[in-house]
Amino acid sequence: MEPEGRFSVARVANAWYVACASRELREKPLPRTILGTAIVLFRTGGGSPAALLDRCAHRNAPLSLGRTIRGELRCAYHGWRYDGAGACVEVPGLIGEAEKSARSVPRFAARERDGYIWIYPEANAEPAGEPFRLPPVTGGYTEVRRTVEVEGTLHAALENALDVPHTAFLHKGLFRGAGAKQRIRVRVTRAADRVEAEYIGEPRPEGIAGKMLSPSGGVVTHFDRFILPSIAQVEYRLGAENHFLITTLCTPVEDFRTRLNAVILFRTRFPGWLVRLLIEPVARRIFNQDAAMLKRQTEAARRFGGEHFTSTEIDVLGLQIWQLLKRAERGEPPAEEWRREFEMEA
Ligand code: FES
Ligand SMILES: [Fe+2]
Repeated sequence: MEPEGRFSVARVANAWYVACASRELREKPLPRTILGTAIVLFRTGGGSPAALLDRCAHRNAPLSLGRTIRGELRCAYHGWRYDGAGACVEVPGLIGEAEKSARSVPRFAARERDGYIWIYPEANAEPAGEPFRLPPVTGGYTEVRRTVEVEGTLHAALENALDVPHTAFLHKGLFRGAGAKQRIRVRVTRAADRVEAEYIGEPRPEGIAGKMLSPSGGVVTHFDRFILPSIAQVEYRLGAENHFLITTLCTPVEDFRTRLNAVILFRTRFPGWLVRLLIEPVARRIFNQDAAMLKRQTEAARRFGGEHFTSTEIDVLGLQIWQLLKRAERGEPPAEEWRREFEMEA
């Protein structure tokens, strides 16, 4: 149980987060907030992404109001011009050298990878490592991407994405909860930078969708994974042909606001376009139900001046996610590895 007055907020700054989709970053500078820091993104001359603090060194004007000119960013107020590293390269009207270190703006490392622009929200830092690699879309697979913003902490959003027991209630009829419950085994494995739950003996989903996907029955393989600092991944295999891999790249915008970039990769015995057509409305309803609940949870916690958490062992990953986040925030060495198993009904 968390003491009153506490909120599960962890700010891991030395990590990569998705700021936007590649296609969102074009000619215009794009403002984004990560861990409460206002950042402006733009493309340099070569087209690669750059990120600066969204505040002009001169008089605080948001640089995102300015314009990109030949790969450099010009402030909308007095026209100071900055390069991709944040150095001031022009002060209109000033005779003499524009570049002085006091005139520069903090910069953030940026990468473009797998269709996203990733930012390392520690100013002027050399990143330790590279962004998370998304699984490639290989033959037979279809990919669907969705971005939603929720009013909840990073921890609450991650826990929600990987939480099994709520699906039978909040998403009743859409996901689980149609048939009788069955006893299944849960194997939890914690490694240095991740924690994973494997559900063993899970019955094939009830209803028409499950029967169509795997008419012969078949085994369900189900993994839920959290990977530091902000990746939630759910993997399902049903029979030999059906594979669903949902990777949610979370970005902590502010303490109580989290952006989720879900990458849904699947292969079934049916054509990808058809499955996509069928699952999109269902996925949207599920996302909306989760977002509405996270908002109400956050409002309640704030109204009461803090969170009150009571957990049982079927809250499989929430506490582990929290411990890993806190370690990462404090810069502590990797967590010890262990594995344990128990049973639950699902
Ligand atoms: S505030 Fe940006 S140039 Fe003056
Ligand atoms: Fe959910």
